[in-house]
Amino acid sequence: MKVIYPGSFDPVTFGHLDIIERCSKKFGHVIVAVLNNSSKKGTFSIEERMELLRETTKHLGNIEIDAFSGLLAEYVEKRDCNILIRGLRAVSDFEYEMQMALVNRKLNKDVETLFMVSKGEHVYLSSSIVREIAAYGGNVSCFVPKPVERALRDKFKGGI
Ligand code: PNS
Repeated sequence: MKVIYPGSFDPVTFGHLDIIERCSKKFGHVIVAVLNNSSKKGTFSIEERMELLRETTKHLGNIEIDAFSGLLAEYVEKRDCNILIRGLRAVSDFEYEMQMALVNRKLNKDVETLFMVSKGEHVYLSSSIVREIAAYGGNVSCFVPKPVERALRDKFKGGI
């Protein structure tokens, strides 16, 4: 079975990698799809985010890194794969995730969203928190893998 794990991944964290690794074991092929949103620049470019994902998932054999723009419900059709994976951290994620799952199903009735519960130690973790800590020169080694840590250091070496 083929699944799509969509997100911003700006940058990929241990929370995302946990979901990707678990998907890799449960599904035949996993497409990690990075949203290319032209109106939201982000910290890392789409190519940088994809490269960090490639580097940090290279030990897994069935992961494809891709990018998409526009509606996820349309990308799903283009990739001929209608199962979406989303990670759920805390109850606070639920409202937005539920809304997204319902909208995606309204736009494309064949889309199924499956939720994977994050590991306990990742419930507080998010890319935006990691970016903020790194921007102030904090240690992010327990939140992101080495290549991401290096990329964050490079990105913020001149300060914010
Ligand atoms: O990592 P994120 O930022 O929580 O991921 C959100 C993402 C990329 C899955 C979501 O914003 C998305 O699918 N955007 C594409 C536009 C779209 O389809 N919007 C309608 C559904 S809300």
